Amino acid sequence: ASHALVDRFDRRHDSLRISITDRCNIRCYYCMPEHDAEFLPRSGVLTFEEIRRLATLMVHRCGVRDIRLTGGEPLVRRDCVDLVRMLASIDGLDDLSMTTNGMLLADHAAALRDAGLRRLNISIDTLDETLFQKITRRPGVEKVVAGIDAAIAAGFESIKLNALAIRNLSETQLVSLVRFAVARGVVLRFIEFMPLDSDRAWRTENVLSGDECLRILSNAFGPIESIGRDTPSAPAESFTVTSEGRQGTIGIIRSVTRPFCGDCNRLRLTADGGLRNCLFARTETPLRDMMRAGCSDDDLLQTFAACVGEKHAAHGIDSEDFQPPDRAMHAIGG
Ligand code: GTP
Ligand code: 5AD
Ligand code: SF4
Repeated sequence: ASHALVDRFDRRHDSLRISITDRCNIRCYYCMPEHDAEFLPRSGVLTFEEIRRLATLMVHRCGVRDIRLTGGEPLVRRDCVDLVRMLASIDGLDDLSMTTNGMLLADHAAALRDAGLRRLNISIDTLDETLFQKITRRPGVEKVVAGIDAAIAAGFESIKLNALAIRNLSETQLVSLVRFAVARGVVLRFIEFMPLDSDRAWRTENVLSGDECLRILSNAFGPIESIGRDTPSAPAESFTVTSEGRQGTIGIIRSVTRPFCGDCNRLRLTADGGLRNCLFARTETPLRDMMRAGCSDDDLLQTFAACVGEKHAAHGIDSEDFQPPDRAMHAIGG
């Protein structure tokens, strides 16, 4: 591609994550405040046409190969199936996926698949309703389970479950989650808690490390073998595990204890059209108002390049002067 997005560290950015809303129908404490969350005014959110313009430009001119839709919760955006159909028709796009909390998935899974969505990642941190309510401050783990089963029935190319690993909370949930996933033939990944919560309650001590997760799991299931990463830039390291006589695959995303920034290939677009070169970027490049003022595609291409050019080597969570980003996870996009 003539405008390949290569940064100062020679990282090539061919993966775009688009947050299509900062709103959500639950309130996970590691992401959002319990009360009075502030949301963008609707006029501030990119329209489907604006999203399509940016996505098409990145695919056609910059070599972006895959797009993942995130939120907030992407399925609370009205007509999101139409957006999926619009993006799926972009020539040259190899992969289109979504990360969702699953609450509304039972209603939408078949339509999303039909519209051209290939892969789904669904968050589920526990199967226990009491704990689910403690984490999400809303009822309804059975809705997530129904969403997962609807997604399996809809025949996606891949379905992965995401579980946050948090100390004094997740230890007792890991084994039942693995049993649940292996029984259904889907991949389950444990994710180290990162400092992206809006309450700023994250502490190193709250991180349940990937190594600790593996220790708990091998006590329950016996030997767990690494099978490496799917691709060099994949955040998860995969492992095989045997549960109830059936072999399954789990993943560990060690963003904190073993950062993978050196292989990063991701860019992010926020719901209000900010281009972010990192989850933890201190600044973002506003694209919405440029577009609304009538900028050219060349203006946009130059702006993308400048944003990528400023990307830092790594998130630096473990450094003395680390500052979490100004916006919480729901406003950045997972
Ligand atoms: P695939 O590998 O394509 O399935 O997607 P993914 O794992 O990148 O997507 P998903 O949205 O499911 O991300 C899972 C978790 O990985 C997120 O919740 C984050 O915790 C973490 N993650 C995703 N992207 C990044 C990133 O760019 N940097 C870091 N440090 N963590 C990330
Ligand atoms: N640290 C790590 N992952 C997080 N997610 C949300 N907040 C955090 C955090 N503080 C994850 C969710 C979901 C995705 C959208 O982002 O678990 O998988
Ligand atoms: Fe990429 Fe930033 Fe995530 Fe590191 S923290 S992998 S640089 S987005």
